Amino acid sequence: MPKNTQKKKSEAESPRRSFLNIIWIVLGGVVLAEFVAVAFAFLRPHKSKAGGENADSIITAGAVERFRPNSVTAFVRGKFYLARLENGGFLALSRTCTHLGCTVPWVEKEMKFACPCHGSAFDITGSVIDAPAPRALNIYPISIENNIIKVDIRQPKKRSTFRAEQVVYPKKKA
Ligand code: FES
Repeated sequence: MPKNTQKKKSEAESPRRSFLNIIWIVLGGVVLAEFVAVAFAFLRPHKSKAGGENADSIITAGAVERFRPNSVTAFVRGKFYLARLENGGFLALSRTCTHLGCTVPWVEKEMKFACPCHGSAFDITGSVIDAPAPRALNIYPISIENNIIKVDIRQPKKRSTFRAEQVVYPKKKA
């Protein structure tokens, strides 16, 4: 190739190359800024209400009367079921199967939780009625104040079986 043609070609490529360099520097800056923002959001302590409760960790389920005895209500936010037993007491049940973690739907017609993965079933208290699930569904702490039910979804409580003391009852009106 003649020298002149080579020189002209390299002169024509030079602005293109510097433009590409600028694009790479800008893209690199954006990626770096995003990385720093994500790292900052991850490391920053979460804002909490007085008493140390995270606003998203306590779900207000509603007034006691909203839930009829012998019923199960699904809460998408919080991923739990609120079960009201026949005697009026409440349990907040995890919707995660204790076998291998599939989501367990409530089958109203059959009054049981039936896992679609390997056939485990649980009654309204979360107790195993059909294996292979090795233990009862996990539960979440419930508090009832001024007739309003609140469920603390921070940490599910593991349990091997249902026990009467796990049930939370509304205070009787004076
Ligand atoms: S995950 Fe539910 S039965 Fe296996």
